[in-house]
Amino acid sequence: MRRYAVDGPVALEGTIPISGAKNGALKLMAASLLVPEEVVIERVPNITDVHLMGEVLERLGAKVSFGDGTVTIDASGDLSEETPYDLVTKMRASIQVLGPLLARLGRARVAMPGGDAIGSRPIDLHLQGLERMGAKFTSQHGYVEGVAHRLRAADVLLEFPSVGATENLIMGAVLAEGRTTIENAAREPEIQDLAAFLNAAGARIEGAGTPFISIEGVRELGPVRHPIIPDRVESGSYAIAAAATRGDVRLTDTRPEFFELPLQKLEQAGAEVDRGDGEVRVRMKGRPQSLDLSTLPFPGFPTDLQPPMMVLLAQADGSSIVTENVFEARFLFVDELNRMGCQIRVEGHHAVIRGIDRLSGAPVRAPDIRAGAALVVGGLCAEGRTEVYDTGHIERGYESFVEKLNGAGANVALLDD
Ligand code: EPU
Repeated sequence: MRRYAVDGPVALEGTIPISGAKNGALKLMAASLLVPEEVVIERVPNITDVHLMGEVLERLGAKVSFGDGTVTIDASGDLSEETPYDLVTKMRASIQVLGPLLARLGRARVAMPGGDAIGSRPIDLHLQGLERMGAKFTSQHGYVEGVAHRLRAADVLLEFPSVGATENLIMGAVLAEGRTTIENAAREPEIQDLAAFLNAAGARIEGAGTPFISIEGVRELGPVRHPIIPDRVESGSYAIAAAATRGDVRLTDTRPEFFELPLQKLEQAGAEVDRGDGEVRVRMKGRPQSLDLSTLPFPGFPTDLQPPMMVLLAQADGSSIVTENVFEARFLFVDELNRMGCQIRVEGHHAVIRGIDRLSGAPVRAPDIRAGAALVVGGLCAEGRTEVYDTGHIERGYESFVEKLNGAGANVALLDD
């Protein structure tokens, strides 16, 4: 069975280069379906999810080729409307082809993603927004089918600033007739990058990165070459790992402003943080201080960094309260942390964490990408050997995970027997 063997405790020390953003790459790849010419995306991380999105696009009829850190997508030929269950079930982000397919073909048939290890994850906000733009949806046999002769501009007020819904609506609106507005839009940096990419291809999107986005439809998009922004979740994961292991790590090729709140929380916990141009250094001496935090949409504390932060707080001097407001099942991995000696009690969407001096290595199972990475960080902090099973989740989202950690002094081995 494939697993990571982590020998601890170890203080991470050294330099870790940051890759292009997974959640940016996936959306830019989906958005390439809108462009009937060649698209080149640079700084694409070599991770499973990116290859899965490549497969989705190929099944839809696009030509996809991966180069050294790039992906070239040619969606100029005839496209199919169907994204099958076998791919959507492997990667929820496949749902992001809905907006582009409706805009380009006027129809789409996409398997309903269902829930996953972090929550129930409905897509009602995606569908309601696209319905306001004239799409009609039916749902049968596990598929959602949409038709729209030509999507038309609309004013959409989102009930919640959903990242995926905001992106599907932007992609639906770029070729629609007239001016679409999205109010209470998600503000994540990946949304700004999606808009920058589409604008470079000829779209007219304003306000991305603010809660109010306006999109003036254009007739057609043209060829584009665009580098992806640095991965703020990968950056935050290693920044927290540096502090949790009481180490000293410099992250390069990143944007500290994309994860400012996590950095402030690390300072509150006692870390020294130096922000530079495209880099950040995190140092921690001694035990972290306890603190409280709540996850929220950007620029709030990201839900994707809640798991590694729990590992840090599990060793804090005092008790902390973490409130999860975005995904209801994101505390499920706490039982695995408690197998490592942590004292965490979950009540609804709050977790009460009583700090202990040292975690104790144990076999654990990664339930999803972020909790998986957090369990490895737990292993780095723990006394003895930790074995993290189901490593496939981690490989979905972290490029060269083992190499980057070992390059900073960790002792992580991939075992496969
Ligand atoms: N929601 C609805 N209805 C919808 C859409 C969302 O109720 O139609 C709810 C969700 O159930 C959830 C909340 O709104 O409770 C937030 O969901 P959102 O749509 O904002 O998230 P997402 O687009 O499904 C992306 C990232 C996640 C990240 C979240 C929040 C991608 C591919 N995924 O998901 O990343 O946690 O935004 O920032 O971009 C990861 O990378 O491991 C990951 C899970």
